Amino acid sequence: MKNVKQKIVVGNWKMNPRTVVEAIDCAKRIARNLPKKSPTVLLAVPTPFLRDIHKAVKIKVGMQSIAAEQEGAHTGLSSGPQGMSVGATFTLIGHSEERAQGTTDETVAKQVQTACALKLPFILCVGESVRDKEGVYLRTITNQLSLALKNVSPRHVSFLTIAYEPIWAIGKDALVPATPKECLEVVIAIKRFLSDTFGTKKGALIPLLYGGSVSKENAALFVRDGGADGLLVGRESLKPKNFTHIITEVGQV
Ligand code: PGA
Repeated sequence: MKNVKQKIVVGNWKMNPRTVVEAIDCAKRIARNLPKKSPTVLLAVPTPFLRDIHKAVKIKVGMQSIAAEQEGAHTGLSSGPQGMSVGATFTLIGHSEERAQGTTDETVAKQVQTACALKLPFILCVGESVRDKEGVYLRTITNQLSLALKNVSPRHVSFLTIAYEPIWAIGKDALVPATPKECLEVVIAIKRFLSDTFGTKKGALIPLLYGGSVSKENAALFVRDGGADGLLVGRESLKPKNFTHIITEVGQV
């Protein structure tokens, strides 16, 4: 996840698959079929599987979240240093499914600070739950960004990737995927925010991903017409054939 505009495809496995054996099998099938002209491929896997997948394949693995604190009495959480000690090279922060469980903007900001302190690259997820005609959703997104990034200094910008994930387009219950045009509109708003916050030069280097019902049919469109530097893929990243198809498509844009 370097700050060059190399295309990036991230698989977010969420709380899947069921066993470590299945997880290793899935990762191996993805690794085996990577195209020659491949974008950077990352897998955000369940924490209990990190070490085994890290050992089984060359693909970089990461966490789906980190605790806001680095250690201590926080039952049920996993810390950044713990994940890094078993192979994590990045983490997601602020995924909408985590926010829906009660993680606040304040906690997201602390997680971001912790990732920066650990020099752990992170993918900050933002996105609106509904689109309104007045365009309030654009303010929702820039608010999420300014709250999460309020203590990030320009020298930490190299650890940052943003994922735009409209909540209404995520998961199997999503009625419609976002269109590349809808993606582009938000990509432009986020880019403007980043250049205002970190300066034009640094802001322009921050990779910007799209996520939400990405499939092999629409993957290339989000990158070609939607202005995204890559994709954050949920369900389809657990189907090795489809995921490698998505990776191949992005590599060819
Ligand atoms: P989906 O999930 O691709 O299954 O919609 C995306 C995500 O939540 O990151």
